[in-house]
Amino acid sequence: MRICSPENPLKLAVLISGNGSNLQAIIDTISDEFPAEICVVLSDQKNAYGLERAKRAEISIEVLSQDEFADKKAYDEALQACLDRYQPGLIVLAGFMRILTAPVISHFENRIINIHPSLLPKYPGLHTHEQALQAKDVLHGATVHVVTSELDKGPIIMQASVPISSSDDLHSLKHKVHALEHKLYPEVIRLYATGRLNFKENSVWLDDEKLSNTGLAFRMYY
Ligand code: GAR
Repeated sequence: MRICSPENPLKLAVLISGNGSNLQAIIDTISDEFPAEICVVLSDQKNAYGLERAKRAEISIEVLSQDEFADKKAYDEALQACLDRYQPGLIVLAGFMRILTAPVISHFENRIINIHPSLLPKYPGLHTHEQALQAKDVLHGATVHVVTSELDKGPIIMQASVPISSSDDLHSLKHKVHALEHKLYPEVIRLYATGRLNFKENSVWLDDEKLSNTGLAFRMYY
């Protein structure tokens, strides 16, 4: 059983490609009640603004650009070797816009989580806000799930949702979902760091109880 404490924090590797607002939410939420530390922020984009956020918080950064590697396999081998050097307890994909290959996922089995801007299983992949608006959905949201080799299909850990109003457009909806994500992701990581959440047997466990595949599915409304 993994119990972390301020003296023995959960080591997080946070992987980003862009703005890093979820990274910032995690940085801002870590505390004695959330015993974690970010051991590295890794980006596949050298100009990602999230790297500036990491530097400001005095966190180690790594940049691995695809153009330095022959193919996806070579990239993921380098990614794995880089992450292994930091020995993270949990790998947090926070807007990391790459699909990881099966060997790296299996190397870190049950230790990679992702945040996705939709209420999975609805809208895996890209352009989730556009799809929710086009479908005239009444609810939209975000999902944190365990990463498996099936894209956006790993066991759901927790979801948060928000109503779509008739005045919403792409910009406002994106903003609403981002605000949800900034509460949702730190909460999931906090529960993991305090030993309450576990991932095993292709399932999510809370306080030693196996959750249904909709995870905790807790709802947060505006
Ligand atoms: C977030 O909305 C996250 O859900 C999404 O990228 C954004 C990153 O924002 N991730 C995906 O679409 C992954 N499929 P951020 O860089 O400001 O944290």
